[in-house]
Amino acid sequence: MQSCEISSDSTDDPLSSGLRRHHQPRIVVIGAGLAGLAATQTLLENGFTNVTVLEASDRIGGRVQSVQSGKATLELGATWIHGANGNPVYHLAEDNGLLEHTTEDERSVGRISLYAKNGVAHYQTNSGKRIPKDLVEEFSDLYNEVYELTQEFFQNGKPVGAETKNSVGIFTRDLVRKKIMTDPDDSESTKKLKLSMLQQYLKVESCESSSASMDEVSLSEFGEWTEIPGAHHVIPGGFIKVVELLSQEIPSRVLQLGKPVRRVHWNYSVQDAEQGPDRADHNQDRRPGPAPVRVECEDGEWFLADHVIVTASLGVLKKAHETLFSPSLPLDKALSIQKLGINTTDKIFLEFSEPFWSPECNSIQFVWEDEAHPESLAYPEELWYRKICSFDVLYPPERYGHMLSGWICGDEALLMERCDDETVAEMCTELLRKFTGNQNIPKPRRILRSSWGSNPYIRGSYSFTRVGSSGGDVERLAEPLPYNKSSKAPQLQLLFAGEATHRKYYSTTHGALLSGQREANRLIELYHDVLNAETTKA
Ligand SMILES: Cc1cc2nc3c(=O)[nH]c(=O)nc-3n(C[C@H](O)[C@H](O)[C@H](O)COP(=O)(O)OP(=O)(O)OC[C@H]3O[C@@H](n4cnc5c(N)ncnc54)[C@H](O)[C@@H]3O)c2cc1C
Ligand SMILES: *[C@@H]1O[C@H](CO)[C@@H](O)[C@H](O)[C@H]1NC(C)=O
Ligand SMILES: *[C@@H]1O[C@H](CO)[C@@H](O)[C@H](O)[C@H]1NC(C)=O
Ligand SMILES: *[C@@H]1O[C@H](CO)[C@@H](O)[C@H](O)[C@H]1NC(C)=O
Repeated sequence: MQSCEISSDSTDDPLSSGLRRHHQPRIVVIGAGLAGLAATQTLLENGFTNVTVLEASDRIGGRVQSVQSGKATLELGATWIHGANGNPVYHLAEDNGLLEHTTEDERSVGRISLYAKNGVAHYQTNSGKRIPKDLVEEFSDLYNEVYELTQEFFQNGKPVGAETKNSVGIFTRDLVRKKIMTDPDDSESTKKLKLSMLQQYLKVESCESSSASMDEVSLSEFGEWTEIPGAHHVIPGGFIKVVELLSQEIPSRVLQLGKPVRRVHWNYSVQDAEQGPDRADHNQDRRPGPAPVRVECEDGEWFLADHVIVTASLGVLKKAHETLFSPSLPLDKALSIQKLGINTTDKIFLEFSEPFWSPECNSIQFVWEDEAHPESLAYPEELWYRKICSFDVLYPPERYGHMLSGWICGDEALLMERCDDETVAEMCTELLRKFTGNQNIPKPRRILRSSWGSNPYIRGSYSFTRVGSSGGDVERLAEPLPYNKSSKAPQLQLLFAGEATHRKYYSTTHGALLSGQREANRLIELYHDVLNAETTKA
């Protein structure tokens, strides 16, 4: 056996010193969002040195994107750290002083309105009237009561009735409607107003779950998503600070931006002779052949790898998995990708010179009175703006100026993405005038929007368990390839991380971060085992 630089170093971690003595496994990470960066950081910390991150876009962060607009930092993607103790993103932010300047108001608690708790939501109808506060509260209590019931199907294993078609939207709409219609105290007009509010609440809910409609969200699985207790924090300096913390120890040579991956050839599906030197020049390399995985980029460059961690979004996998992997993914994994859900939630920021809303108003909610009766709402294309459910007031004004942040999801969000700024700004102004009854609202000074649906490297905002899918599909998506652990094929050739691979915390930044660490830890364990086995043999 070759004797090479035997531990002159002081580290007593057998893994990192072991890795230093052996041929370093080559690891490629696809994507520099939270999952990819967390995986990379964990690998580097544990002694792996041959790590390359290939990121398609020209920036890191993925679905975390903070944009400076005047003095305000606006979040096109993630905004809130959901929950405190036990949330690794919270601890990272807190330990590094990122939350020092949060105001009491920004540590908001609550569910449907995650928005700043200063002030009250103004529910406005399309005839320009504000719905009285007590009526809003009454409806809100009723809705939340039914929301609690949606959690029980998963949590208590309650059977799902056939009439609900296992859909959160259908279940909620039917039950809330029934309660509204059988309330003896309400007049016909109050009933109608409450039915319209229900539709608006469901739009808000589908923006929160990034589904096109709550009718698509699985009732039996809905309660598996787990909330971490504690407030929802905003990061005043921008969520991108978390990305910067994760990437600060990653050397720039490791990170390759503007490097879209075209195809991942795994299972030794490409073994060309001209790559010869790769296998020959390492005496210590005791692995049998050349690289089991070869990553081909759009620009023609190839990277050889022993392991590839794929962190592309579920939307990208849905669209491209058939061409992205050669050989194709196993059928059950492909099916899980098909079954799980992801759709688009977009934000529309409008900046005004002066506020036209009152100081206690924290949001303007759009309630269309003519939407009381239809079942699920499907709009013709030209009515896409009806899916904009609300505008939040960003607070405090010293930080944001007079800024509103609107929400839209589903097909209508994709239609909004196709319009130009001018059209969207005009449409939003018209809506605000109509619902507040104030015809003097000026056009906004500035507009800024996200476009997560049409971004070819994102294709959606975040994942959800669609009707017909389950937490088992999330597990299947996360399972490394090849499946067969006893075969002679090298293990852990393809690993899968990213928001959509976390069974309890999908759709979140902490889910993404934890999934990256999870996959890095699989590799750390694999090499622990390899090195331990060799130590025992010696
Ligand atoms: C509008 C919106 C609001 C949100 N709000 C919150 C919130 O308040 N709180 C919260 O916790 N979470 C929120 N989220 C979710 C959170 O942002 C995501 O869950 C998380 O950032 C996902 O990280 P990721 O690493 O899994 O994926 P991504 O961030 O998508 O990273 C994947 C990376 O892979 C790259 N990539 C894709 N294909 C290729 C390819 N072929 N080759 C090379 N690179 C490729 C992409 O460019 C991307 O950078 C929000 C998301 C959106 C869109
Ligand atoms: C990784 O290993 C390959 C092949 O041994 C080598 O060509 C490459 O330079 C290494 N990369 C890094 C970042 O160490
Ligand atoms: C991987 O290669 C082995 C050996 O050539 C083969 O038996 C197996 O079917 C391949 N797996 C896939 C998913 O192509
Ligand atoms: C969202 O859902 C609609 C169907 O309701 C679909 O047309 C669209 O492609 C989906 N995907 C994205 C990324 O929004």
